[in-house]
Amino acid sequence: MAVVRIPETGEVFRGQEAVTKCLAAIEIDYERWEAHPVPAGAPAETILAAYKSEIDKLKARGGYVTADVIDVSPATPNLDAMLAKFSREHWHDEDEVRFIIQGRGLFHIHPRGDKIHAIEVEAGDLIRVPRGTWHWFDLCETRAIRAIRLFQDVAGWTPRYTDSGKDKGFEPVCLGPAQLPPRAAV
Ligand SMILES: [Fe+2]
Repeated sequence: MAVVRIPETGEVFRGQEAVTKCLAAIEIDYERWEAHPVPAGAPAETILAAYKSEIDKLKARGGYVTADVIDVSPATPNLDAMLAKFSREHWHDEDEVRFIIQGRGLFHIHPRGDKIHAIEVEAGDLIRVPRGTWHWFDLCETRAIRAIRLFQDVAGWTPRYTDSGKDKGFEPVCLGPAQLPPRAAV
């Protein structure tokens, strides 16, 4: 389940209802998809086949024409250079749609005239960042994520940088899974 944090105020939102409502207020769509049994390390075609009905519904809803699977890990060649492209504030000419299969990542969303929201995503989370939205993205500590991506037009996904420098003022802090309350001492 995603966690939303507003660094400026220290507010943290957890739980599907609170997260969905908080994100809807800044025009970010958020859904949870039921996990399908896909073995870790399964090829992209297996993942796309397992989630075909959800992908088809999204395509029909958002005009997406193609889907693929992005797979990033510490073993990915030139990982730092790849991440550096997306950890600066930017926007795209098309929606950024991600369904997380494995791993964790951190979107920062900068709504015009509103506070910056940090959204930590994990397996089962679907997020849609509408075209034109200012945002940036970092991986969490494990530096690994596997996600289905949907595209309206692959050519439209080039990042366009704001060069605002806003991203430099925010540490990419991931909170991790919700902590269970400590057990009472016995
Ligand atoms: Fe982006």
